[in-house]
Amino acid sequence: KTPVWEARADLVVIGSGVAGLTAALRAQALGLHVLVITKAAVEDGNTRWAQGGVAVVLEDEHDLDDSVAKHAEDTFTAGAGLVDEAAARSILDGGPAAVARLRADGAKFDASASGDGLLARAREGGHSAFRVIHAGGDATGAEVERALVAQAGQARVPVLEHHIAVDALRTPGGRVAGVTVLDRNGVPGVVRAPAVLLASGGIGQLYQATSNPEIATGDGLALALRAGATVADIEFVQFHPTVLYTPGARGRCPLVTEAVRGEGATLVDGAGQSVMRGVHPLGDLAPRDVVSAAITRRMLTAPGGVDDHVFLDATGIAGFAQRFPTVFGACTVLGLDPAKDPIPVTPAAHFSCGGVVTTVDGRSSVPGLYAAGEVARTGLHGANRLASNSLLEGLVVGQRVAEAVATDLAAGLLADPSRGRLASWAVAPAADRDALQRVMSRYAAIGRDADGLAAAGSVLDLSTQDTPLWTHAAVEDAALTLAAQALLAAAVRRTESRGCHVRTDFPSLDDSWRRSQLIRLSPSGQP
Ligand code: SIN
Repeated sequence: KTPVWEARADLVVIGSGVAGLTAALRAQALGLHVLVITKAAVEDGNTRWAQGGVAVVLEDEHDLDDSVAKHAEDTFTAGAGLVDEAAARSILDGGPAAVARLRADGAKFDASASGDGLLARAREGGHSAFRVIHAGGDATGAEVERALVAQAGQARVPVLEHHIAVDALRTPGGRVAGVTVLDRNGVPGVVRAPAVLLASGGIGQLYQATSNPEIATGDGLALALRAGATVADIEFVQFHPTVLYTPGARGRCPLVTEAVRGEGATLVDGAGQSVMRGVHPLGDLAPRDVVSAAITRRMLTAPGGVDDHVFLDATGIAGFAQRFPTVFGACTVLGLDPAKDPIPVTPAAHFSCGGVVTTVDGRSSVPGLYAAGEVARTGLHGANRLASNSLLEGLVVGQRVAEAVATDLAAGLLADPSRGRLASWAVAPAADRDALQRVMSRYAAIGRDADGLAAAGSVLDLSTQDTPLWTHAAVEDAALTLAAQALLAAAVRRTESRGCHVRTDFPSLDDSWRRSQLIRLSPSGQP
């Protein structure tokens, strides 16, 4: 295929969630010519589904027995030895200013019920303090996205909706100089730009059941790998402990925010026995990897055979419908009243802790290629992300990456975009999506072993064929395939259990594995 349209920009932003829009707004304010490319409608990303909130210790709340240092300690503990402590401190330190900016730009967070003029703060798994600010009760992501989309509209940030980025243009020296794109009708084009920011979200669609919407197909991760970038920690897929259970659930499952447990709800099995008693000192508010693994173990040992869900008993929470309107609405659809009925829940794929290796200001290993948000691996999350640290990361790194691009441009470090080469329209291996999701769910979810990971690799190979990236679906399938291959390769090599990576054949931590695996594509295209 030959590109039939062409555009130019200083910075192409791929994705329109919290990281992408924050970066686009800041870059435009710095005088850069920005173009946002997003493969669905502008607000259709993962951000708007975030419920719990933004974990942040606000400057005006320093007297509330909390500190950024404590937030950092909780982040290190949750991350199970793989958090880059300097990167985490840097990002968490940027939190108060990032939230203040977002509020100044119109985002409304819930006020504390005590009338002290401060924001309400919830607690979630792994947090030693009440520090998660929220909006609309449990609709924080929706409010963050609403505010950013409104700002982008006012600032007239150009956004190409229903366009999908395919591959990076590279100069002979290896710098990124733009991207190839399919428009909403699949018509190919080229956007030439010295800087490309991946803010394209995660990989939840690798699995049959996920809290992520359909867009989470790992496109940015695959684009980065094919462009020669390094990725890391990709074996650490976080499973949220509690999505609403419906028999045979597929696709996006409604989240039941951890803040429900923060308000006192408890996990019980079908016999009414506590799932978390005796498992961890924080009980039902243990870090997310611990809770998801405990639920999985309990389901596997249920009396009468394997069970596929447990229950969240929230009957003791007064005013549930007002505090958690999103969860209440999802329960109502199933005919459940959380005031009376225990909520059936099960773990589901939720967040990629790893991704494209970047600095805390979003620079990847390839000049001209930047990443922020879930697609990036700054080192903040390690082997298991602390709840509600991701919106914060998107806000902080989104701002910083715009500044990094402006600096790199001014310093003459980026490519002349007219030198970007498009050798031929890409062909890439793409597996059948149903088969891929089936084997990843069966063999590469919580509880993995060498035989299962090998079986997953074989099934993936068998259902994979070289496919021209001429349609949106083909681009996504190829991205899912490469993401799955990278994940399986990393998971089989990591012969220990750490954070979200649970190996049944290597159930213990192994200190020699207290390091990240750096992954790049070999010349034959294998991770
Ligand atoms: C939740 O509300 O439980 C999800 C928040 C997050 O994933 O950080």
